[in-house]
Amino acid sequence: MIFEEDRGETIYSADFKNLEEFNHIFSSRYDELIESACPCYDDMLDAIVRSAGSKITSVVDIGCGTANLLLKIIRNNPSIEKAIGIDVDVKTLDKAAKKLDAYSPICSQFIEGDFCKIKLPAADVCVSSLALHYVSDKKQKMLIQKILNQCPVFINFDIYKCETEQEEQDKKDFISHHLKNGILKPCCLDFLSRSLKYNSNALAVDEARSACYNCGAHFKLLEKIPGFVVYKAVSLNL
Ligand SMILES: C[S@@+](CC[C@H](N)C(=O)[O-])C[C@H]1O[C@@H](n2cnc3c(N)ncnc32)[C@H](O)[C@@H]1O
Repeated sequence: MIFEEDRGETIYSADFKNLEEFNHIFSSRYDELIESACPCYDDMLDAIVRSAGSKITSVVDIGCGTANLLLKIIRNNPSIEKAIGIDVDVKTLDKAAKKLDAYSPICSQFIEGDFCKIKLPAADVCVSSLALHYVSDKKQKMLIQKILNQCPVFINFDIYKCETEQEEQDKKDFISHHLKNGILKPCCLDFLSRSLKYNSNALAVDEARSACYNCGAHFKLLEKIPGFVVYKAVSLNL
């Protein structure tokens, strides 16, 4: 049973036949649940916004979801003329388009498609949050290269692969701390732990750094908390 009355609105992955079905339900309630599933979500998006600055005129978001990040960037950038979101999920893109339409008359464009397969548009800055780990590590490295061929700056927030037992322990401690403080809801912890377990595609921070260096880009770590990282790559070629 999915939303049983006596269990409140909690969703447990064990209720689902497979992770895809669970992810589908989770994504239908994404905006409501994401901040309880990812304790640092808002802060990490803010770190991207700060680093993108307030003078860019165009931005593309890879795996934009419901456009939470694009909206923050537009709000911080009076000079933005073009905001482009790319996502494979058409229902999510509908929500994204409504959110941006309601906010601003700026030119926004949404592209439905697989970011690994489509030609990416050029923009002053490419951003992404919690999306790259959906594809294999090999595809992520190719994607980073594709992005940096089109955009001089790439700022990415994502989960990362822990490389040491200490990193794993820090992540577990971080999650249980937030659970005790009531910041993480048990249902979201369930989501988070399954995501972190299944999304083993996530690159280690050093792998992301090497992928950027291999494209001739500078790499700067902006934020790192257990399990999550924000980095900025600046192309030296464009
Ligand atoms: C966890 S959500 C993050 C959404 C948004 N970036 C945010 O931070 O709220 C991951 C998003 O990536 C999208 N996605 C995953 N793989 C994709 C792909 N290969 N091409 C395009 N979008 C993809 C999903 O549809 C989903 O909307």
